[in-house]
Amino acid sequence: MSNWTKENIPDMTGKRILITGGTSGLGRTETEILAGTGAEVIVAARNTDKGDDVVRSIREARPDAKIEMRQLDLASLASIESFAHRFTQDFDRLDVLINNAGVMVPPYGKTEDGFELQMGTNHFGTFALTGRLLPLLRQTPDSRVVVTSSMAHRQGDPDLSDLDWTERKYNAWQAYGDSKIANLLFTFELDRRLDGKGPRVIAAHPGWTATDLQRHSEVANLLNHVFAMKPEQGALSPLRAATDPTATSGEYYGPTKMGGMRGYPEHATAIPRANDRDLAAELWAVSTERTGVSYDLAA
Ligand SMILES: NC(=O)c1ccc[n+]([C@@H]2O[C@H](COP(=O)([O-])OP(=O)(O)OC[C@H]3O[C@@H](n4cnc5c(N)ncnc54)[C@H](OP(=O)(O)O)[C@@H]3O)[C@@H](O)[C@H]2O)c1
Repeated sequence: MSNWTKENIPDMTGKRILITGGTSGLGRTETEILAGTGAEVIVAARNTDKGDDVVRSIREARPDAKIEMRQLDLASLASIESFAHRFTQDFDRLDVLINNAGVMVPPYGKTEDGFELQMGTNHFGTFALTGRLLPLLRQTPDSRVVVTSSMAHRQGDPDLSDLDWTERKYNAWQAYGDSKIANLLFTFELDRRLDGKGPRVIAAHPGWTATDLQRHSEVANLLNHVFAMKPEQGALSPLRAATDPTATSGEYYGPTKMGGMRGYPEHATAIPRANDRDLAAELWAVSTERTGVSYDLAA
């Protein structure tokens, strides 16, 4: 097959897409591209000024774009709950949920609910939001959930007894890798639990893409000049996961050149630990307990 590019995105007219973190980097680029496909795109932004700016610039470029912004802080379970509550009241369908928002190697910090910031935002936030929107996704025919992981999942080995790093010296890169393998463990476990009943659940990683994500690491920022792709290229794998009609549930897309750093979206390989069913089940139980979100998978 030839390279998958944004030209492969089908007409998305009639589809409603919700994307987290559409205010910067990959999420902003994905939003701009999807707004040109006929889809209605809703940007979930923690910073409403940045959210308004995205909406304004897209409307300037495409006056016919169907785009809106809503406030959501994934580092707050209360924010996720009230966002999902209003969303479910206002809309009767959700075709695609793109879980994109994330943080990488910030100084040690905690979410509003006391979770270590990276696991709290990247995994617990994703788990809680997806669970709360699942009824809406399940009542929408042919819906899908995209989860954004990373090559950094390869170093992931979460200590489920100390996810907040209160017993160990904090290692920000390890915590990032742990949150990104948690994204994959969650994707594959949700796919197994849904057992083909829908939505499709698909993971993607964007290789190495120069964005604001690297702002907490001088080295990563420097290496951006050597290795990084532009957001227009990095966004292709999540976009394929979100729109390719042939994408199957449980799939993982990403570039595969230069060890996964660069290239076009292809079938990517996760490390065996990402497919560890016992670990996935344990993480699911911890996530349910800590977020208070139970998935309704009956029927
Ligand atoms: N760039 C890469 O090379 C790379 C590689 C692998 C994986 N990824 C993954 O790709 C995703 C997007 O990253 P990016 O590179 O585009 O980074 P980015 O430019 O820093 O964008 C991250 C987005 O997440 C939002 N966000 C952060 N914390 C949030 C919270 N608590 N609630 C709601 N939104 C929040 C940010 O909002 P603000 O605009 O308010 O900051 C921003 O819109 C992340 O999941 C990241 O792990 C990126």
